[in-house]
Order: sequence, then C-alpha cells, then structure tokens
Amino acid sequence: MEKKFKRTTVTSALPYANGPVHIGHLAGVYVPADIYVRYLRLKKEDVLFIGGSDEHGVPITIRARKEGITPQDVVDRYHNLIKESFKNFGISFDVYSRTTSETHHKVASNFFRTLYDKGEFLEKSSEQYYDEEAKTFLADRYITGECPHCHAEGAYGDQCEKCGTSLSPTDLINPKSAISGSAPVMRETKHWYLPLDKHESWLRQWILEDHKEWRNNVYGQCKSWLDMGLQPRAVSRDLDWGIPVPVEGAEGKVLYVWFDAPIGYISNTKELLPDTWETWWKDPETRLVHFIGKDNIVFHCIVFPAMLKAEGSYILPDNVPSNEFLNLEGDKISTSRNWAVWLHEYLVDFPGKQDVLRYVLTANAPETKDNDFTWKDFQARNNNELVAVYGNFVNRALQLTQKYYDGVVPAAGELTDYDRETLDEFKDVKQKVEELLNAFKFRDAQKEAMNLARIGNKYIADSEPWKVIKTDPERVKTIINISLQLTANLAIAFEPFLPFSSERLRGMLNMATFEWEQLGRTDLLTPGHQLNKPDLLFDKIEDDAIEAQIQRLADIKKANEAAAYKANPIKSTIAFEDFEKLDIRVGTVLECCAVPKMKKLLQFKIADGLENRTIVSGIAQHYAPEQLVGKQVLFIANLAPRQFKNGLVSEGMILSAMNVDETLSVATVDRPVAPGSEVC
Ligand code: MF3
Ligand code: ZN
Repeated sequence: MEKKFKRTTVTSALPYANGPVHIGHLAGVYVPADIYVRYLRLKKEDVLFIGGSDEHGVPITIRARKEGITPQDVVDRYHNLIKESFKNFGISFDVYSRTTSETHHKVASNFFRTLYDKGEFLEKSSEQYYDEEAKTFLADRYITGECPHCHAEGAYGDQCEKCGTSLSPTDLINPKSAISGSAPVMRETKHWYLPLDKHESWLRQWILEDHKEWRNNVYGQCKSWLDMGLQPRAVSRDLDWGIPVPVEGAEGKVLYVWFDAPIGYISNTKELLPDTWETWWKDPETRLVHFIGKDNIVFHCIVFPAMLKAEGSYILPDNVPSNEFLNLEGDKISTSRNWAVWLHEYLVDFPGKQDVLRYVLTANAPETKDNDFTWKDFQARNNNELVAVYGNFVNRALQLTQKYYDGVVPAAGELTDYDRETLDEFKDVKQKVEELLNAFKFRDAQKEAMNLARIGNKYIADSEPWKVIKTDPERVKTIINISLQLTANLAIAFEPFLPFSSERLRGMLNMATFEWEQLGRTDLLTPGHQLNKPDLLFDKIEDDAIEAQIQRLADIKKANEAAAYKANPIKSTIAFEDFEKLDIRVGTVLECCAVPKMKKLLQFKIADGLENRTIVSGIAQHYAPEQLVGKQVLFIANLAPRQFKNGLVSEGMILSAMNVDETLSVATVDRPVAPGSEVC
C-alpha cells in the first residue's frame, strides 16, 4: 500500500571534516540525493535537503595531533573546503551546517539526556587501555602493536591494515600508546550503552516485514545484523573532543561520534527552521529518506532508528537508499593514500565541467555493486554521449533555427507518420523516468533521459532538414518545430541530473521556468517565440587532458609504493678484510649496444684506465644503449669472468640500485673522475 506523504525530508550522510571530498562521496551519496531532491522540487513537492559536516570522532583528533594543530583547526579547514565543493557541483542543500555548531551541541546533548532520563541506557563499567603518561584512556585507533594474525608491526587496536583483520585492542601483541609510546595499562571506565537487543523485535518487524522494498544490499545487510542478534552498543567514549556526556560524574567523556552525527540532521534542520523543524521530523505525514554509503547502513537502519524510537516523538526513515562503493582505476579510493579524484582539484583541471562528472558518476553509479571510475570511460562518455548525442542534437536544432528563421520558433504544419511515431516514443519517457526515480534507480533514469536525446538525434538525422530546405521549405518548419520541442523537453528531463547544462539550455531557449509537469508536451515553445543565441552545451575532451590524469595517478601509485617500501633485512656482518677483497672501480662507457637474441642484455665497452674491457649487464629493459654512452659507472673489476650462452664473456659487473618498483638505476659518481679510479 502506498502511503500518501505531504512532504519529504532528505538527508545525506554528513562527511567527516577530516579531508576534502572526492568522486566517491559524490557518486555514493550526494549526486543521487541531489537528483532526487531536484526532481521533487520540479514536481513542486515540499522537500527539505539536509547536509552538513561530521566534525567529531577519533580520526580528527589523530590528524590534529599529527599536524600539531587543534581538532577545531582541522574541521574548520575541511568544513569550508567541503561546503565549497558541494556548492560548486550544484548539490542543492537547503542547509549545510556542522556538528560543532552550538545548536547541534544543545540538540544532541538534550537528546542524550532525554534517553538517559527515560532509562533507555544501560550503564556499564569495563576495563580499557589507559595511558599513564598521557593520563588518558586510549581509543582503539590510538593503540598500535603487532598483529596476532600476520605479525605486522603497527596494527591498530581496531584493525590491521596489512592483512585487513578486524581486531580489538586486547588482541594486539605488545600494545603501545600512539600518544606517548608507553605500554598502556588496563583501567576501569564507565560508559552508557544503547541496549539494541531490547529493540530487536520491533526492528525485525519494521525492516524485514514492513520494508521489503528497500534495496537488496540494504535489506540484506540489515537482515544479517538482525540474524546475528543485536548487542548493547556504547554511546559514549573517553575522549576530549566531542559533546560532553550531560550527566554528573561523566567528566572526560563525550558522546560517541555515531551517536551525535545522525542527530546532526535534526540540529541542522532546526538551525534552518527554528520554528517549524518539528514538522520535518515528527509529523507522520513527513517521509524521511536517508542517502548514505554502504558502510553507514547499520547506523541508519538500526542504531539511529532505535535512538529515534527510544526518544519517542520522531518518525522513522521510510527508505535508506544506500550505494555500494566507487573504485578508482581498479583500486579502492583512499584519502590516506591520496588515491582519489578530489572535487576541488577536478574543477581546476576541468573548469565548468561539473555536469560531465555528475553525468559519468550517475551513468556508473554503484547502485547494486561496487563500480569503477576510469578516466578513459569518463572521456568516452563525454565525447560519445554528452557531445555526440545530447549536445549534437541540441546544437543542430538551435543552429538550424538561427540559420533558417533568425532564431524564431516556426509553426509546425501537418505531421507525417514518422513525426507522430517520434512524438509517441517521446511521451512515454516521462512516466519511465518517474518510475525509476521513485524507485531510486538513478542510473537507469538518466539513461532514459538520454534516450530522449537519442530519439531527437535520430529524428533530425533521418529528416535531413538541410536537404529538404531546398525542395520543401514548409516541411522544414515542422521538423524544426518538433526538434525544438524535444530540446525543451530535454532541458527539463535533465535538470535533476545536469542542472548547469539545463540552466544554460533554458537560457538559449529563452524559457522562463520549467516544471516536471511539462515533460512530454510538444507545445512548450510557441510559434513566434524568440530564442537566444545558441552556444555549445558540451565540448570534446582531448586525449592529452586524460593522459595527464592517468599520469597523475601513476605518480601517486609510485609515491605510495615508495612510502610503503620496507627495505630487506641487512645481510650478516662481514670482516673488513672481506670488504677489501672487492675491487670496485669507476669506468667510462665507451660503447653500449644491444645483444642479438638476448632481450635483457646490454654489451658495454668500458674504459678502465688499463686496457678497456667488455662487460655484459642485464639492464636492457631499463636503459636504451645510447643513454649510457659517456656515463661513468661503478663496476666490480675483480669478479671472475662469466660466459653467456652465446659465447659472450663479461669481465666484471656494473652496479645498479634496484628501486621499489624493480626498475634499475645505474650507480654513477657525483663528479667526473679518471677511468679506473678505485672506490673505497
Ligand atoms: N561521517 C560518516 C562517514 O563519513 C557519516 C555520518 S552520517 C551521520 O562515514 F548520520 F552520522 F551523520
Ligand atoms: Zn595483520
């Protein structure tokens, strides 16, 4: 049964103000949420779009400590950058606030207090690691040690990043405090717990029975949590960054970040609408929709609803459309490894191309499974779809109107069968796009919108007005009229997806406004209506722009590998006399050439201050022969000669360093020296 709602509150996960936002954020949460909200607005529905930064939590304190600044400095820096990025990409929040705001501190604190007073929490003491030097309890991330599974050093108290195993701090071998470096001790501490086990039965009914329409990935994750059985969850932490627990005797304790952050949705609504915010959160005729990424499912489908229910006066979410993850060129996006396309950097490299990214991220949206962003696909979708289909059709229709009619919409004459077929095909689109958007299938919805452009493109190509103008100019008026109506429809259909382009197109068409209701109509532009000067909607992205991005990622990968490089252990100690047995010399490369049939080898003629010598070295994959001629290299002069299969004899060995990526770099001297100089 469809419930009839009067209004919709749309929230999008509050990103941690711990780094800039990247394409994964946009694809996973903000673009779909924005499409949905823009669609509802175009339909003249009552909708509120809530965003903001999540500014508490341990990682922010770790970052601050690393940089020698305060957590407040960290969040100030990123909150503003994130807010700006969203604005630049047209994410049309009604409010974008932050969890360090005064309003939020009050709302979250009161929320906790209400639950506390109602007896909705358990109070429990347990033993946790404490740093006696720094005089503080240690969050899981602040404890490092040896992983009990793979024995890597530097595993964290919640996870080993080397082997990926989830850990708890007491699993670590030789735990150390990341703050003081000292060995932590166990100490008793008290915390408040939300007894999720007590909420299990209504949650089961509400999710598993009443919300079978939720996406499979969401429903499935909830079911597996519920089937495992829910446990009480701590909602406070020993930390000095966050919202103080508003209970006597709770000094040094703050609300757990996952307790306060979702309340941020409510606080931000209250900040925007101090008098009417409750309508958006408490009226059963309000529909609440949370857009999130898959790592947030349990918090939005189980923990937050349990909090809302425990409080008693709130509505529960009607849907939680969660996406899977977007990868970048085959690897998981990672802020700490700089493996991302940052939104603020994208705008520098591709100014004005926000819609291109929005389009590609929706076309590739990770709605049902993880998906991959590649620069080649980005280029192909821009060039073959936005430019060649949408842009091309619109440009033809507008240019021909300029050329034949000075930009004035011509009146259509009698329609042919082909005209009618085209228009019929067209009329179904509205319903299809609506059904898909209502079901949160953004990727397919955008495909349908693009279909409009394909229909238009085919229509104008088949109708060939540029030829017909010579034989039947009246007929061309009809073709152009229909093409312009299709163009106006495209501007409307694409508004939720590509708002910047729609706005430009609306300007070119000189349309006052648009509404979703107009979609499918063929009288959007009346004959005699004057259009504005057309301009290209999209332009081609050239290979060099894409190559530059691919190169940038390759450089990052190299830098990461170098940073992660752990040198081999040192070989066993040798006596000085043993070292003296080696005769290392400097030689000048006189000649260098490839060795026939031996792909890896280069043959050198080396000036060694005596009679010159031949050395064969396996570095052909790392140098072209001519690169080395004239260089001074280090070689071992007293190595026993070695014969290769083809009879070639090498009289020594050239020294090279092997880099992390296994490329070789020949060892040379810092200043020219005489050939044959000894290395000591
Ligand atoms: N900051 C969290 C994340 O990036 C999301 C918080 S969503 C909220 O994963 F509901 F807590 F606000
Ligand atoms: Zn491990």
